[in-house]
Amino acid sequence: MASATQTAAAELVCFNEGCRARYAITEVLYNCPQCGGLIEAGYARLDADPEMLKRTFRDRRTSNAPLDQSGVWRYRELFPFLDDYRHAVTLREGNTPLLNGPIAAKYGGLDRITFKHQGFNPTGSFKDNGMTCGTSQAVRLGMKRVACVSTGNTSASMAAYAATAGLEALIFLPHGNISFGKLAQALEYGAKTLQVEANFDQILALVRVLAERLGIYLLNSMNPFRIEGQKAIMFEMLDQLDWRVPDWVVLPGGNLGNTSAFGKGLREAKAAGLIDKLPRLAVIQAEGSAPFHELWTREVSGKGGGLCPVSKPETLATAIRIGDPVSWPKALHEVRTSGGTVEKVTEQEIADAKAQIGLCGIGCEPASAATLAGIRKLTANGVIDRGADVVAVLTGNLLKDPDYIYRYHTGQLEAPGGVKIQPTFGNKAIVVPNDPDKIAALLA
Ligand code: F0G
Repeated sequence: MASATQTAAAELVCFNEGCRARYAITEVLYNCPQCGGLIEAGYARLDADPEMLKRTFRDRRTSNAPLDQSGVWRYRELFPFLDDYRHAVTLREGNTPLLNGPIAAKYGGLDRITFKHQGFNPTGSFKDNGMTCGTSQAVRLGMKRVACVSTGNTSASMAAYAATAGLEALIFLPHGNISFGKLAQALEYGAKTLQVEANFDQILALVRVLAERLGIYLLNSMNPFRIEGQKAIMFEMLDQLDWRVPDWVVLPGGNLGNTSAFGKGLREAKAAGLIDKLPRLAVIQAEGSAPFHELWTREVSGKGGGLCPVSKPETLATAIRIGDPVSWPKALHEVRTSGGTVEKVTEQEIADAKAQIGLCGIGCEPASAATLAGIRKLTANGVIDRGADVVAVLTGNLLKDPDYIYRYHTGQLEAPGGVKIQPTFGNKAIVVPNDPDKIAALLA
């Protein structure tokens, strides 16, 4: 395999500016033992010719080596934490397309829009980009059991990668608040699946205690290696754009791991000389689960302070039904650094935006559609220009939540609290008799 550089030294570093304590890359840490801050991977300065790196990344697309075929590991010089690539666990994740959606662009108030569709991943969401790295580190550390709490996609992904690596998978889900598509994936991939009568935030606290007590490796997004893999969504996007930097990258925000990963990846790509400026990050939350939006509003008005959790988060976009996002300090840093913004959208706005993405022949799951709903608001209030170069990241596949789609199109979708969602762009199936004349008359 072609390698443009030698592996740089890697370590774990406390994200907290006032601490920055450093630890060996092989320690099992999710928070800093000294100050409690979040942990991230840090590397020695990448001393490589950026043009040579770009050529290496491009050449790997024609290689049959498994690591080169992965849309994550193809960019491995940019997250050199493994000392032995035989530990890498890959399902050839990434390799997700950039798609144009003229109907969605018009709806969003833009001349054009580009979707980076992470729903094309092996298990149908962007979680695969992170999970390939998280499970590889688990294998490298000799872990036998891995666990996560999930609104569905993390668990589906972890179950698949654990099965691939021969690890035992333990999954904790909020009972009754996960789509069947995602639950079915976890069962099919053979994960031990526990449905807890609590919400995501409560279960995360529970799982942290259990992981510590039982020596299980946690693969939620406070695991720094998940973040390393998700950086590659931005590397692949830039590679596909021939390293042209868009004006905006828009993504949904839940636990805020992806926002943290995108920001870190983009900053590191700039430091490596691969790009010369940063795109602005726009994070979109669902109105009933929008603590980060509330924090941002305070920040913009100069009030500051920390995140106030939402104790009973609600949204039909169950993937982002999170009230106490773990990665908010990292995400806040990234939105600030990129000159970005945070917006929130209603259930009706998400549902209608989703139908518009569907009309482009693209489709996505509800959380992903928060991007287009947010863009529509941000163009209307002048934050994003009509002519801007915008990439919206669709995080999950349409088939993740077919129940939501059917209910929308048949006028049966209800928001939390019983408010009916209008099927603005509804498309009902028509029942017809087995009679060619009647059908022909209907179609005339
Ligand atoms: N979109 C989808 C489809 C998701 O599954 C998630 C998160 C997000 C957006 C938000 O990403 O947490 O990085 O801000 N799903 C997690 C899960 C929480 O358990 O699958 P984030």
